[in-house]
Amino acid sequence: MTPLFPSILSTRYFELAERLEAFKEAGIDWIHLDVMDGHFVNNISFGPAAIAAIRSRFDFRFDSHLMVSNPQRMVPLFLEAGSDWVSIHLEAVSDPSGLLEIIRAGGAGPGLVINPDTPVEEVFPWLPLLDYVLIMSVFPGYGGQAFIPATIGRVAELKQEIRRQGLTCRIQVDGGINASMSARLRDAGADILVMGTALYNAGDIPAVVKQVSNVFNGDA
Ligand code: DX5
Ligand code: ZN
Repeated sequence: MTPLFPSILSTRYFELAERLEAFKEAGIDWIHLDVMDGHFVNNISFGPAAIAAIRSRFDFRFDSHLMVSNPQRMVPLFLEAGSDWVSIHLEAVSDPSGLLEIIRAGGAGPGLVINPDTPVEEVFPWLPLLDYVLIMSVFPGYGGQAFIPATIGRVAELKQEIRRQGLTCRIQVDGGINASMSARLRDAGADILVMGTALYNAGDIPAVVKQVSNVFNGDA
C-alpha cells in the first residue's frame, strides 16, 4: 500500500484514463474517491458507477470517502460497486457502529471521518471498530483548499489514543496536502495522505509518489 492515495475529485473527465495510467506507472495502488451528494456538502461528484467503470479497466484498490447525509443508503451501493475501504462521516450519524459492522461484513475496511471542527475525542469510542480514521484537513466539499495547520496536533492526539488503546487503526489525512508536508504529518502519526490538486499540478507524478513513499518508509 503506497502511503499516497490520489483523490480523483479534481480530475478533468476527459483526462481520467490518462491520469489513472500515470498513477499506475508511478506505483500507486489505491485511489481515493470523494463521493459528494450535494446535501452533506455543497457539491456533487460521482456515484458507485465511477468505481465500476474504473474497476473494469484498472486494478486499483478503492477508498470511498462518503460525504453523504444518508450513509445508510449509500454504503451498500459502494460495497456492491467494489470499494475496498469505505469511510463515513461521524457528523452524518449518531451511532456509526451498525454501519461500520455492515462495511466490514461486506468485505471492506471501515473508516470514520471527522471534519476540522469535530473534536478528535468524539471518534475515540469507535476506534476498536475501525481500520482507519480520516482526519479532514479542510472542510469537505472542494479540492484545492488550504491545509488547516491545527490538523497536525489533531493527528498527534488521535495517534496517542490509538496507542493507548493498543490498536492498529491507521490515520489518513485529506485536504490541501502536498509532498513537502509528508514528514510533519508522518511525525505526528499519519499513515496515509490523500492528495488531489498538488498531485495534478505536479509535473512529475512518480517523483511525488517516491518522495512521499521515502518519507513514510523511513528513507527520508
Ligand atoms: C474535500 C476532498 C478533498 C480532496 C483532495 O472534500 O476530500 O480534500 O480529497 O483535496 P486537495 O485537492 O486539496 O488535495
Ligand atoms: Zn476525501
